Amino acid sequence: MLPSCYILLFLLLRMTACGNTLTISSTINSTDLNSGIFSALDINSSCKTTHQCRGKLICNNGHCQCCENHIWNGTNCIGEKTFKSLCEHNTECDTTLFCIYGTCQCAQMHYWNGHICVSKKKSNETCTNSNECGGKLLCEDGVCRCPIDLFWNGSICIIKKYDGDFCSSSVECADNMECRDSICQCPESEYWDNSKCTSKKSVKDACMKEGECGTSLYCARNVCQCASSDYWTGSMCSIKKDENALCNSSLECKVTLQCRRNLCTCCEQDFWNGQFCEKKICAIDKCLNGGRCEIASNRNTCLCTDGYLGDKCQYAGIYIYISFTFPK
Ligand SMILES: *[C@@H]1O[C@H](CO)[C@@H](O)[C@H](O)[C@H]1NC(C)=O
Ligand SMILES: *[C@@H]1O[C@H](CO)[C@@H](O)[C@H](O)[C@H]1NC(C)=O
Ligand SMILES: *[C@@H]1O[C@H](CO)[C@@H](O)[C@H](O)[C@H]1NC(C)=O
Ligand SMILES: *[C@@H]1O[C@H](CO)[C@@H](O)[C@H](O)[C@H]1NC(C)=O
Ligand SMILES: *[C@@H]1O[C@H](CO)[C@@H](O)[C@H](O)[C@H]1NC(C)=O
Ligand SMILES: *[C@@H]1O[C@H](CO)[C@@H](O)[C@H](O)[C@H]1NC(C)=O
Repeated sequence: MLPSCYILLFLLLRMTACGNTLTISSTINSTDLNSGIFSALDINSSCKTTHQCRGKLICNNGHCQCCENHIWNGTNCIGEKTFKSLCEHNTECDTTLFCIYGTCQCAQMHYWNGHICVSKKKSNETCTNSNECGGKLLCEDGVCRCPIDLFWNGSICIIKKYDGDFCSSSVECADNMECRDSICQCPESEYWDNSKCTSKKSVKDACMKEGECGTSLYCARNVCQCASSDYWTGSMCSIKKDENALCNSSLECKVTLQCRRNLCTCCEQDFWNGQFCEKKICAIDKCLNGGRCEIASNRNTCLCTDGYLGDKCQYAGIYIYISFTFPK
């Protein structure tokens, strides 16, 4: 029979080998010692005490088993392998690791944080290196971010959208494009020149199509210009002015009006008929049957002699006499 101090030492060594989590369920009693110390029971064998089990096996719930964080390699309990250890089977690797191409590695979309494999981080989460960030994100300024021409769709960085592409938010659009009306497009003051957003062109600049010209301008004859009814104020197209409006140039006045003394006016011998300057001269053939021509209410008007009607006094008048008899 062995002295009891030897047994204690033996247990102490085993506990150190397996770590502090080891629990020994049975109490050593001299009968056990006598019968079991050299019995060397194999894995899964029924046991009463740990020292009955072979090698590094321990007696747990009545069976010889490997202690926590150890696995049976066929002949022995061996410590689970950690990140990057060589391996042949998943079971050899630490719980969260998998044996991939002969080394213990984290599964896809996971990274080794020094202790276990954890899910890779999403957009905007803090990080210390890009390996921690999932879905093609890069660790920049301590935050997981998509590379410049990609955006985060909720699970991965994908390529940004271009002019005319369907979108639900401006972050999806490339360059400085905005998502307006669910379509990626340049800001209002810019147009897409096939590679980037560019400032819209001003009056008299050469153009290929409408969208290139700034607000209120048209691309006509390959030049950005105002509509013929408008003039360029210096910053926009504005409708040409009527008679008597303030002006600095005849270009601001409606056709046939001239800017004189800062007013849009007709020439001396003309009058404004509401649409253009018209000659004040009453044409000889204008008023018939002795009618007299006059300028009234901005138009040439025929004042007919008695008995004639019509804008040229061309109709003979019809007189209707109606008499009333009022009852007394
Ligand atoms: C010691 O072991 C014997 C035989 O296995 C058992 O009958 C006895 O109850 C045990 N004594 C103690 C104190 O555990
Ligand atoms: C031990 O028993 C467990 C549970 O029944 C079983 O999964 C395992 O394969 C056995 N181990 C060996 C080496 O037979
Ligand atoms: C099990 O592990 C032991 C100790 O590391 C080693 O000597 C033995 O060769 C291994 N057995 C197998 C089958 O890998
Ligand atoms: C990241 O953070 C910025 C600023 O706080 C925010 O505008 C953006 O929407 C966030 N992106 C995601 C994908 O959560
Ligand atoms: C993000 O894009 C990937 C690849 O196109 C797609 O499989 C995934 O469903 C998208 N995720 C979301 C939340 O839209
Ligand atoms: C004419 O020019 C003057 C001086 O530039 C300016 O102050 C004024 O507003 C202009 N008038 C009109 C009607 O554009």
